[in-house]
Amino acid sequence: MNDLMWDERLGISTESVDYSLEDSENYGYDPTPYFVLEELVKLDLLDSEDVVVDYGCGSGRVGFFLQSQVGCRVIGIDHSPKLLEGAHENLERYDGDGNIEFVCSKAEDYCPIEANRFYLFNPFSTRVFRKVLDRIGESVKKNPREILIFFYYSTIEYKLYLPTEPRLELVKSVGFDAEAINSLSDGRLDVYRFQSV
Ligand SMILES: C[S@@+](CC[C@H](N)C(=O)[O-])C[C@H]1O[C@@H](n2cnc3c(N)ncnc32)[C@H](O)[C@@H]1O
Repeated sequence: MNDLMWDERLGISTESVDYSLEDSENYGYDPTPYFVLEELVKLDLLDSEDVVVDYGCGSGRVGFFLQSQVGCRVIGIDHSPKLLEGAHENLERYDGDGNIEFVCSKAEDYCPIEANRFYLFNPFSTRVFRKVLDRIGESVKKNPREILIFFYYSTIEYKLYLPTEPRLELVKSVGFDAEAINSLSDGRLDVYRFQSV
């Protein structure tokens, strides 16, 4: 099923890209291909008890898909009021059980204490990501729990950085051919376990 068909099935609209707030640290909106999300679900690392945060959720595709396929609770966080307006419109139209919320915030300022799974698709620079890891670390100190981070990316910036980050232990990795994800370059979905150091 292609991306437009998935949007239609879920009753949402998430295809339109938006780079209006993009700068050197905070990247614009471009949705994860549904194909990647289907592969993510097949990894069997998510279940209905999980609370998933989509850091940089845009109009909410990841949350709607995971909630519909796994039944987990999802919190989408984005700094763009305009994109969140679209996410809320999608929530009104969405056919599922609605265990989804959207929060307007900088990701580096907010880590829900109950969240145990985090998803990121190229939302911001590695400098911002380090601050996000600081927030996750503080939250794990207050509420100890196992944290998995799902990272979908294709940029050289993250390819170089992720293997050097001592707070991340690689659990699983899935590679995607450029053609399969309708992109100019190959992509990767890496799953990391967060470890306090
Ligand atoms: C590549 S899109 C990914 C959208 C969605 N997660 C998905 O995979 O379909 C990146 C998103 O991150 C958001 N973003 C960028 N910097 C941010 C920040 N510091 N805090 C929160 N959201 C941010 C952008 O507005 C954009 O919607």
